[in-house]
Amino acid sequence: MDLHSPMPLLGGLSPAQFMRRHWQKKPLLVRQALPGFTAPVPRSTLFELAAREDVESRLIAHDAKKGWSLRQGPVPRRALPPLTRREWTLLVQGVDLHDEAAHGLMQAFRFLPDARLDDLMISYASDGGGVGPHFDSYDVFLLQASGRREWRIGRQKDLTLREGLPLKVLAHFEPEQTWVLEPGDMLYLPPRYAHDGIAVGGDCMTYSIGLRSPAAHELAVDLLTRIAEAGDEEDDAPQTAGMSGRRYGDAGQAPVAAPARIPETLQAFARGAVRAALAQDGTIDCALGESLTEPKVHVWFDDGEAPQPGQGLRLDRRTRMLYDARHVFINGESYRAAGRDATLMRRLADQRALSAAEFARASADARALVAEWCEAGWVHAG
Ligand code: SIN
Ligand code: CO
Repeated sequence: MDLHSPMPLLGGLSPAQFMRRHWQKKPLLVRQALPGFTAPVPRSTLFELAAREDVESRLIAHDAKKGWSLRQGPVPRRALPPLTRREWTLLVQGVDLHDEAAHGLMQAFRFLPDARLDDLMISYASDGGGVGPHFDSYDVFLLQASGRREWRIGRQKDLTLREGLPLKVLAHFEPEQTWVLEPGDMLYLPPRYAHDGIAVGGDCMTYSIGLRSPAAHELAVDLLTRIAEAGDEEDDAPQTAGMSGRRYGDAGQAPVAAPARIPETLQAFARGAVRAALAQDGTIDCALGESLTEPKVHVWFDDGEAPQPGQGLRLDRRTRMLYDARHVFINGESYRAAGRDATLMRRLADQRALSAAEFARASADARALVAEWCEAGWVHAG
């Protein structure tokens, strides 16, 4: 992908221009972002996905008298209202994990870091259907896939939500702009931009290419847990003596008149232990890579075959593979990598594939590791 060439997907902006002018700043409406686009995931496939236990889905309906209703999935076909009934919508999350064409569509957005791309959600709406005016905490690209949808958007300051509803609906939505999107049109919205999308006519399908951005506290809890668990394994190792060892010792402790008081030396030991657990080179980076590549819940892989000589590699669509300066991460695991193997692994992560000629250059160790990944179904040979 040429980051400095105009792209129809971004309305004639290059990825570099888009990132500078719009990313996290202001919306962008793109007419015919994907010219002649026809929805690659048919309605019937979407309904089948919504009925599955391992797929996250929601059914939202609105009624002038009864107001909003929400049903969490799985949503069996018989639970869906008739297609001719107005004002209902079915939302199916993570379609890219289950459908190769949906996964392929996400690849067009890889001018963004993989660590930021989350998933492809598909909504199906009957005439008048939508989820009400709201805001999301993440950036989103809303691609119209079939039928028409009217989007009203606004830079809303007042983010108060209506009380007592099963979903987040803004209490005082003040739209500033309105557009009707046709198949192939796309709307980019930065985080917290208020929006309301209403199906105009039936059979309205919208694809949301969603971003993920970890909240500081949640990320800290996850990383600290991972680091603590890795440290547990180390604590089983034989101990070294003295304060630099792993257990507190207090030779020289004077008798105490105030027994409830925590010794200052113990406080210092605790501070040192926590700092040491975090201070090792790359500890946090390593935990971050493992966390970012952790497969989503409900994702499992089917066993596969080790590659034969002369075969190339392709990542399974569910595989998450990232790297940093020292490590390669795949599906929650981390590996130290350097030299030519690191170059090849990074290429595999960036291209999500390696040609047979490229893979032939890998060391015996790297080939053995890749064989394990292939057997686990994370990578496919071919
Ligand atoms: C929808 O597709 O109906 C909702 C998407 C969104 O507003 O984020
Ligand atoms: Co939204």
